[in-house]
Amino acid sequence: MRVASTIAEMRAVRRSLTGGVGFVPTLGALHEGHLSLVRASVEQNARTVASVFVNPTQFGDPADFDRYPRDTDRDLELLREAGVDAVFLPPASEIYAADDSTFVEVEQVTEGLEGEHRPGHFRGVATVVTKLFNIVAPRRAYFGQKDAQQLAVLRRLVRDLHFDIEIVAMPTVREPDGLAMSSRNALLSPEQRRAAAGLYRALQRAQQLFSAGERDGERLRGVMREALGGEPLAQVDYVSVADPASLREADSAGETALASLAVRIGAVRLIDNAILTPHASREMT
Ligand code: PAJ
Repeated sequence: MRVASTIAEMRAVRRSLTGGVGFVPTLGALHEGHLSLVRASVEQNARTVASVFVNPTQFGDPADFDRYPRDTDRDLELLREAGVDAVFLPPASEIYAADDSTFVEVEQVTEGLEGEHRPGHFRGVATVVTKLFNIVAPRRAYFGQKDAQQLAVLRRLVRDLHFDIEIVAMPTVREPDGLAMSSRNALLSPEQRRAAAGLYRALQRAQQLFSAGERDGERLRGVMREALGGEPLAQVDYVSVADPASLREADSAGETALASLAVRIGAVRLIDNAILTPHASREMT
């Protein structure tokens, strides 16, 4: 496995890779969620490139950036074991010049949810992913449904800027109690970790109501708020039931809806989501 830390090195490695390249961008502190993307890429492409870069421009809060878990040696070991061909591991100075003046702004799908609660977040994500796509030049790129709005933003980016890259979406990998795997879970105390399972239970409650025929957006949001209310450690940032395509809040849901939520437990902010369908998948019951 080749490890490149400069753009020049990464481009040289890329030129040596023959066949279609699958790409898995990450912030590192890898877990099974990341590795499910890597495994899919290794299976579906001649070559796989991953990146590990804690992108400063997508963190609004400098303390959140400082606190973000980092474990490069372990990440490289996991990527090697998973069969990755090359890893791009740049320092921030390689990606951002002090006088950078070009940024990528995706409109519409960034208006609600994370876009509303984390101003500038998706500008940072869209800008870094554009840079990474230009450096790695993949045929396919892999992203998790865990970050549903990010996925919608990146699909729009690829379409609007004519990137010749297929976006592949992978399902959310969960802990046995339903908590979505996240690098931030490592920052939770045992008591906070128990409370964090409440996010999934809230999504399950919405799915149960949806299966029973409820389509009123406010009642679906209400049942999620109520479920989270039972967790004194969980402070709700937002709960949402939105149209899965436009991500606009639904007054009355259609055939399917995107239920999502963001919750603070102590200093740790967690997000999760589920596509509500008339007949719930086994995972959501
Ligand atoms: P990061 O949070 O490290 O996530 C990297 C990829 O792993 C994303 O596509 C994310 O959706 C996916 N992922 C995270 N947890 C998952 C889980 N439990 N199940 C399945 N997939 C999961 O998302 C980012 O990094 C950054 O914004 C990035 C795209 C790298 C740009 O900086």
